[in-house]
Amino acid sequence: MSKNTSNNQTSKNILLAIGGGIAAYKSADLIRRLKERGFDVRVVMSQSAKEFITPLTLQALSGYPVASDLLDTAAEAAMGHIELAKWADLVVVAPATANLIARINAGMADELITTTCLATEAPVVICPAMNRQMYRSQVTQENLSNLLKRDIIIWGPGSGSQACGDIGPGRMLEPTDIADRTLQFFAPKLLTGQSLLLTAGPTREAIDPVRYISNHSSGKMGFAIAKAAADMGAKVTLVSGPVNLTTPAGVNRVDVQSTQDMLDAVMANVEEHNIFIGCAAVADYRVAEIADEKIKKSSTDMQLALVRNPDILATVASHTPRPFTIGFAAETQDVEHYAKDKLVRKKLDMIAANDVSSPELGFNADSNALKVIWGDGQQDLPATDKQTLAKQLLTLIAKQLANKQDGK
Ligand code: PMT
Repeated sequence: MSKNTSNNQTSKNILLAIGGGIAAYKSADLIRRLKERGFDVRVVMSQSAKEFITPLTLQALSGYPVASDLLDTAAEAAMGHIELAKWADLVVVAPATANLIARINAGMADELITTTCLATEAPVVICPAMNRQMYRSQVTQENLSNLLKRDIIIWGPGSGSQACGDIGPGRMLEPTDIADRTLQFFAPKLLTGQSLLLTAGPTREAIDPVRYISNHSSGKMGFAIAKAAADMGAKVTLVSGPVNLTTPAGVNRVDVQSTQDMLDAVMANVEEHNIFIGCAAVADYRVAEIADEKIKKSSTDMQLALVRNPDILATVASHTPRPFTIGFAAETQDVEHYAKDKLVRKKLDMIAANDVSSPELGFNADSNALKVIWGDGQQDLPATDKQTLAKQLLTLIAKQLANKQDGK
């Protein structure tokens, strides 16, 4: 069976993987709710799930044979596990028991569900369902946080009364909620069809083979923007200075060191993108001549001749074709005044003014606050974590870009 390639948002293939927990009875209803929303649903189930619900019920509801055995020749002949993994546009593991979560996290491939999760290129959603104490246990929490780091999506759990009589977190989300989230997952996103090029992190200017000039940028703000933009449907190229961060899923990353490297990487990519964001803390100066050998201490003072670096943001803003161009302004005083000056002087569409006078915000912090300014307006984005701020900033950018395209 071929993969459905239609653009109809509801003609997607959902592979529902049912683990062996009491919430498996809800998975029958989940199939119906997914089908109501136009999804094509196939089911794989663990051996223990069969203790809670029969394959026949799931087959009748989905309209397809249900696979539960990795080494079942008949099932493999009909649609093998690799084919199933390829067929899926989204794998939804519901219920995901503590055992199943641990095994997916460990990369096990000794039964059908974990093997399918390993073999698929489709996004995987985990819907945890277990006793509250099992959910709260340190090892389950560690497993879930590892899965999140690998861009596995986690929906739930809900909280409330449990089959065992306990009350607390661990209930599988209701089928309608999971089906609505699945619909939302495939809905066209705010930045669908847009392509974003952005810079992040510091640049590093060598003095000699062991020393360099740089700054305190961690890259967290730029990486948060890259991740949020990819989540919002944009194609994203991230040109990053030296940072210690993992590349967000779906983001094309180009690593650079110096400002000149960053400029070269940006200009090599700029024409394939319609939005540019300069979030990097670019070194304004570099040493006039990099020493070939380690410079020896010869006196108490040392003079370094510095020369001005090219301005990447201004170069992009004056390039033809010109992307919708957004700069950042990191300031410690007169933030709005200096940001407005940069907006005009560098011929930008928008600027995100960043007060970096507080150690809790901006450079190398997990939180930030911005004052976003454009031609005839401005908006404050109050202090919050960088992930939330990135989404708010991109929402503003999408709005201003749409206004510009509409000639408003
Ligand atoms: O990386 P984090 O630790 O998360 O910190 C985030 C941040 C504080 C670095 C980020 O939010 C930020 O404010 N980035 C811009 C920092 C900066 O260099 O500001 P600036 O005012 O010096 O530069 C103004 C703009 O020109 C920036 O968009 C900068 O990328 C760009 N620029 C500057 C100099 C240069 N030679 N080329 C440039 O493109």
